[in-house]
Amino acid sequence: MRDYKHSTIYQIYPKSFYDSNGDGIGDIRGIVEKLDYIKSLGVDYIWSTPFFVSPMNDNGYDVADYLNINPMFGSMKDVEELIAEADKREIGIMLDMVFNHTSTEHEWFKKALSGDKKYMDYYFFKDGEADRPPTNWQSKFGGSAWEYVPTLKKWYLHLFDVSQADLNWNNPAVREELKNVIRFWKEKGIKGFRFDVVNLISKPEIFEDDNAGDGRRFYTDGPHVHDFLKELVADTQIEDMVTVGEMSSTTIENCIRYTDPSERELSMCFNFHHLKVDYKDGNKWELQKADYAQLHRLFYEWQTRMQDNNGWNAVFWCNHDQPRIVSRMGDEGRYWKESAKMLATVIHAMRGTPYVFQGEELGMTNAHFSDISEYRDVESLNYYKILLDEGKSVDEALKILSERSRDNSRTPMQWNGGAYAGFSKAEPWIGVSDNYESINAEEEDNDDSSILNYYRALIALRKEYEAISDGKISFVDMGNPEIMAYRRYTDDQEILVIANFAGRDKKLMEAVLAEGYKVLLSNYEVSNMEKIFNIRPYESIVLLKTP
Ligand code: GLC
Ligand code: CA
Repeated sequence: MRDYKHSTIYQIYPKSFYDSNGDGIGDIRGIVEKLDYIKSLGVDYIWSTPFFVSPMNDNGYDVADYLNINPMFGSMKDVEELIAEADKREIGIMLDMVFNHTSTEHEWFKKALSGDKKYMDYYFFKDGEADRPPTNWQSKFGGSAWEYVPTLKKWYLHLFDVSQADLNWNNPAVREELKNVIRFWKEKGIKGFRFDVVNLISKPEIFEDDNAGDGRRFYTDGPHVHDFLKELVADTQIEDMVTVGEMSSTTIENCIRYTDPSERELSMCFNFHHLKVDYKDGNKWELQKADYAQLHRLFYEWQTRMQDNNGWNAVFWCNHDQPRIVSRMGDEGRYWKESAKMLATVIHAMRGTPYVFQGEELGMTNAHFSDISEYRDVESLNYYKILLDEGKSVDEALKILSERSRDNSRTPMQWNGGAYAGFSKAEPWIGVSDNYESINAEEEDNDDSSILNYYRALIALRKEYEAISDGKISFVDMGNPEIMAYRRYTDDQEILVIANFAGRDKKLMEAVLAEGYKVLLSNYEVSNMEKIFNIRPYESIVLLKTP
């Protein structure tokens, strides 16, 4: 049975997690060595981002061989040991399946490039003149989504980097190849899968220009996406495993279908609407203060509509593509601790399966890079050029990157206050954040009031209270944008969660009578339990109703 409702999942970006052999790059043995730390959090699964053979143009999301390990990260033996050692600790390993595209270094693509018809049909090759791409679609990493191959006089589609060619799922042979990848890893003892941008796999029959956008409306939650998923899941018999789809610009209606158990598609979805409330007009590269009213509304809609229609959410703030949440919606300074704990509370008490991204449990912050030479990410480097071309000054472009770059989440995990934050004995592939002396796992492990120990307590609450893991949700005080308050309940248990997103005192519009409530967890000392009316800066509190 899928036990995802009672589970918490820990995400690892291996390149930045722990370097076991001193070459400055995190590796699989590094994960094995830190399993006891991960176990101490109380999590049930580890999702690792890809460590397969790859030229690493997009840090492993450009897979050149799904069945072999990138030597930079280790060997198949290391992966087998990781699975076995995790298993001993009752932790399941989930792998990241990048099935929307392959690297152009994959042998399928190489054969396609040499003109092999069978393999050309694994991708989208379209006829055309060298100066006119088949459509005006844009790559998610900037520039055209098409690349011309002069020897073939054809263009191929790449929704991401030019080295990530989109696979043609309309071709049954492609679907069979991908099923074999799943079977291979299942056989090895993998317990679950994360499917990368999986709602983009179904492209339309006809490719046409998008007069109103970048093309995404033609392939997002595309025509056959549900059929393809059903087939993949049924034919590989993974319906009882934990599966999560990463859904780009999706809708609630589609996520209900992806996750309603009777549809037999996936356990849950990542959606990103709540992480765009600080995008100006939906544009990631234009800064705006987070709109808390919109955030509040989005959580309300997704939580209640998924609940009412048998859907299931992945709930999260952070991953390897997102800036650090404490820098983004909290306060890195005076209220660093309080705000990091408040943000964690909001997610972990919600209806859904919570994800913790490495270092989030320490309150790790954005990178604070101030020079373009410090950045590594292909998207950041592309957009830096685009922003300058658009007329932004170097300072403006760097300011935008410092808030939006994916490298903010990819700086080395801060293990201790020693050299390179204890991540490696050698200089890491990307710079360590300069606050590692105060923000690190060793320090926080020894401090009862740390963010780390607060995460442990939150994760334990989900195990202890059925109202949190499998209860219903209803929101309280919706008129108060900076206050997020909701009840979680079953027939015989009720939990109330109140969180203040503002860095100042706020009044609860509906004063909550605290008589009859017991505090389960809070990020402040709570003394007066008569009536909760005034909420302090970034305060959060989890209460259990007593009979
Ligand atoms: C997903 C991954 C991201 C990657 C992209 C293309 O969004 O999370 O890191 O760049 O897909 O594979
Ligand atoms: Ca290494």
